[in-house]
Amino acid sequence: MADDSSKPIGIFDSGIGGLTVVGELMKHLPNEDIVYFGDTGRFPYGVRSASVIQRFSRQNVRFLLMKKVKYIIVACNTASAQALDSIREDFDIPIMGVIEPGAKGALAMSKAGKIGVIGSTGTVASSSYTKAIHKLDERMEVFASATPLFVALAEEGYVDKPATKLIAEDYLLPLKEKGIDCLVLGCTHFPVLKDVIAEVMESRVYLVDSAEWTVKSVKDDLYKRKLLNSTNKPGVYQYFVSDTPDKFVQVGNRFLGKGVAPAKKIDIEKY
Ligand code: DGL
Repeated sequence: MADDSSKPIGIFDSGIGGLTVVGELMKHLPNEDIVYFGDTGRFPYGVRSASVIQRFSRQNVRFLLMKKVKYIIVACNTASAQALDSIREDFDIPIMGVIEPGAKGALAMSKAGKIGVIGSTGTVASSSYTKAIHKLDERMEVFASATPLFVALAEEGYVDKPATKLIAEDYLLPLKEKGIDCLVLGCTHFPVLKDVIAEVMESRVYLVDSAEWTVKSVKDDLYKRKLLNSTNKPGVYQYFVSDTPDKFVQVGNRFLGKGVAPAKKIDIEKY
């Protein structure tokens, strides 16, 4: 058990978006080795049923276990919303999702007790953020809204286009009118659109980046479990995808703002 700390952290996402979590890991846990699996061949998860997402998530975990990881991060809001409980039951390895940390972040930052949440259709339909926030404090008012077009805009690099601003206004102004003081970016893709979201919401609304809050929780949890990598060498990053490895690297560079190592294609249906 003692040398488990030198093993890598496994991460999976429905595709590229989980790289926003990798970016935070690079900043806050730079000595950790990372094995990332992006399910690009079966992306997006946000429109699929819970049972399908649970099956995909089990396969993703099995693949990461083959890579001898010590810890797993579900760096996908949809999979965290629909499959976290079931994979935690099925596998004997610590698993962190992004919803609980995002809910904690919202609670820490909201003064008015009015919290907005945006995410994929599946995440919003599951009410997972609302439930997680109410578990912490049931007095909070939560307004959740699905903003699926943001996923495509982020993937296409439509970060500062007028069309993106128009869509953002259409999606976000109703939430703004509710008087929220905090907005949870409940999808891994949304931090890429932070600037336009902030512009529409204006500065008095604090944006909770679930990737950022997840890595804070992961760091605390690794520490408690004595799993923090104590070496001084820089972390090694390995990327695996279920399709289109070149596109993953190309779009991934935009998400991470730096070079993504070449990704290897695997057959996830084998796991
Ligand atoms: N990673 C997914 C999420 O955070 C992106 C959207 C999707 O797969 O539909 O919800």
